[in-house]
Amino acid sequence: MQARGRLIGLGVGPGDPELITVKALRLLRESPVVAYFVAKGKKGNAFGIIEAHLQAAQTLMPLVYPVTTEALPAPMSYEQIISDFYDTASLDVAAHLDAGRDVAVICEGDPFFYGSYMYLHDRLAERYEAEVVPGVCSMLGGASVLGAPLVYRNQSLSVLSGVLSADELKRKLVDADAAVIMKLGRNLPKVRQVLIDTGLAERALYVERATMSNQKIVPLAEVDPMSSPYFSLIIVPGERWQG
Ligand SMILES: C[S@@+](CC[C@H](N)C(=O)[O-])C[C@H]1O[C@@H](n2cnc3c(N)ncnc32)[C@H](O)[C@@H]1O
Repeated sequence: MQARGRLIGLGVGPGDPELITVKALRLLRESPVVAYFVAKGKKGNAFGIIEAHLQAAQTLMPLVYPVTTEALPAPMSYEQIISDFYDTASLDVAAHLDAGRDVAVICEGDPFFYGSYMYLHDRLAERYEAEVVPGVCSMLGGASVLGAPLVYRNQSLSVLSGVLSADELKRKLVDADAAVIMKLGRNLPKVRQVLIDTGLAERALYVERATMSNQKIVPLAEVDPMSSPYFSLIIVPGERWQG
């Protein structure tokens, strides 16, 4: 009987092509099928990071998101549409696995840190051999280019989604020693106001496309909300410990 292929969640780092791990590169080169999530009409960040390493014999499998925003007019439900999409994507990936082909699903940053790979993993890892290769996640890439040590000694770090309501963000931020706020884009004005209201704005650092060739570091107060991209984050570093 034909051995089944392996599902591989491959973290490729936050953008700088040199931040991919040796292991991820090896498995990428060995995988007959390379799958990647991508918005319609886009190349995709993860794909851009590894493109130069692909070989002609590899099968590319773009998994194109049917929607790009969670705010959809009724009766459309983002949750239903995206769940159906992951079901279908899992079936497509499983067809390759059943035929004995390994499938590397490349993920920007780390696969298990807000990565879409997780939704394939949840659907397939009980039935197929799965391996996850961790990657340098965006908040660590961000901290390094901002020159911002994240947490000292016994401080705790809160990782928050900018999609949360202002009240929820405030509640979680007041107790945080240090924080990272992801998924900014259109959420930036709300997040910035919350940081002002909680007295954290002075400590907050903002970066767009950290470690990518088009990286931009701008003082938070000067960020134009109309042009703040989805690939941006804010870091509120822990208070420096004078060790
Ligand atoms: C769906 S999550 C993916 C996170 C990714 N798996 C990781 O390990 O960092 C997308 C969010 O990650 C953040 N992000 C990802 N890459 C980034 C980068 N190079 N610079 C700044 N933020 C980034 C942004 O906040 C973006 O909204």
